[in-house]
Amino acid sequence: MTMEFTIKSGNPEKQRCACLILGVFENKRLSAAARAVDESSGKFLGNILRKGDLNGKIGDTLMLHNVPGTVADRVLLVGCGRERDLNEAGYRKIITRTIEVVRNTGAADAVSFIPDLNIKGRDVYWKIKQAVESSHSVLYEFNEFKSSKKKQSKSLKKLTLSVPTRKDLPAGELAIRHGEAVAHGVEYCRSLGDRPGNACTPRYLAEQAQQLGRKYKALKVKVLDEVAMEELGMGSLLSVAQGSEEPPRLICMEYTGGRKTDKPVVLIGKGITFDTGGISIKPAQQLDEMKYDMCGAASVLGTMRAVLEMELPMNLVGVIAAAENMPSGSATKPGDIFTSLSGQTIEVLNTDAEGRLVLCDALTYSERFEPDIVIDIATLTGACVVALGKHASGLLSNHNPLARDLLNAGETSGDRAWQLPLWEEYDKALNSPFADMANIGGRDAGTITAACFLSRFAKKLRWAHLDIAGTAWNTGNNKGATGRPVPLLTQYLLDRNGEGN
Ligand code: BES
Ligand code: MN
Ligand code: ZN
Repeated sequence: MTMEFTIKSGNPEKQRCACLILGVFENKRLSAAARAVDESSGKFLGNILRKGDLNGKIGDTLMLHNVPGTVADRVLLVGCGRERDLNEAGYRKIITRTIEVVRNTGAADAVSFIPDLNIKGRDVYWKIKQAVESSHSVLYEFNEFKSSKKKQSKSLKKLTLSVPTRKDLPAGELAIRHGEAVAHGVEYCRSLGDRPGNACTPRYLAEQAQQLGRKYKALKVKVLDEVAMEELGMGSLLSVAQGSEEPPRLICMEYTGGRKTDKPVVLIGKGITFDTGGISIKPAQQLDEMKYDMCGAASVLGTMRAVLEMELPMNLVGVIAAAENMPSGSATKPGDIFTSLSGQTIEVLNTDAEGRLVLCDALTYSERFEPDIVIDIATLTGACVVALGKHASGLLSNHNPLARDLLNAGETSGDRAWQLPLWEEYDKALNSPFADMANIGGRDAGTITAACFLSRFAKKLRWAHLDIAGTAWNTGNNKGATGRPVPLLTQYLLDRNGEGN
């Protein structure tokens, strides 16, 4: 399951390994590395392409054995499409396909020359880091609850990634270190998301945070139980948990990697470990997927882990608002009114709009960390899936420079977000005749009115909200957590620290 990554600059035909990975473009055009092997092999590759066994379409592969003029057991050719069209997504697809193919062979190690390909505007650091993250992603499996844990990846133990020259080695080394840390954060996030609701409760999430705290000295963990939250006055968060046998938790993780005086970034995760909808109960179809309603929390844990591993010189706080949303005799009824930690009162018109109810108290709580930036991450609205599908996370913010930085981090990492407006015209939908606000707007613009609700608790903060309802997990036959938006968040923090590039 674990794979070791290294970098190297050298000639492809001289690589002694179980598998050499080379790119070929459409129209029988060879990449520079493939051309070198073609020369040393007496046009062996060119002859094969001429026979039409590989047309160079992106992600198509052809495995060759005993290629003359090489010292590798195998040569894997992979199609890279048209050279001019090769972009970031194409690069990731090529890396993914090659690892998928190689791991199903007996090859124990491979040397990939894919990072030598030219991607407009992307440097060695980017290409190596992306290669590490994409390769890791292929090898993820969640089999903790299978009685026989068959390992898919039999033999591939070591992947060597090429860099063009020796002077690229330091950037490559850093990229491997960062890529592995991000990959570990993503893996951790995915495994928490995939974990079933009966084994992933608010208390389990708290234990996970405490375990991180034991592993890393720089992390201080504090967990508030329902009594502590009651004393503080977190009436909104508590209202969500009151129908469940599972007690809620507010989990705080403080990483001090910077100076004492550096204002922290605070990440707040929605941690609804199962969302039935409560008394406003959800229909049965695909209800199992509401175990993923804690993916915001999982992304906070995943990002925290990656930052700890990278030892970024900054201060980072993770706050997780964890609860289970259940219907019962003690559950919130539509129309019930609660007082939030901020003092603002909320009329709960729909108990299925529970994410904002736990997040608003966490937002108010975050003020005590005197943060520079606060970002909340939540599987908040089905409307976001309708608007953006599964390709982009929704982004809403009261601070434009922050929104811009997050959008850029999304582009760099390939874990993209798209901004929606947070205009006051939308906010009016939340007015209530009986309380300071209702917890839902009308039918229109559900993602925006949800964010408007949160913004009422973020007035004192430079704040952004990521709605990951569409991006946190895949449905259908490749059902499973994606680990998003850990790549986006870690990239934002790397950029902020001027690390990487
Ligand atoms: N966790 C859901 C949002 C969700 C639904 C995410 C489906 C992914 C897939 C959230 O708690 C919710 O139920 N939101 C409601 C809000 C509505 C009642 C205003 C929704 O989106 O229907
Ligand atoms: Mn809900
Ligand atoms: Zn929910």
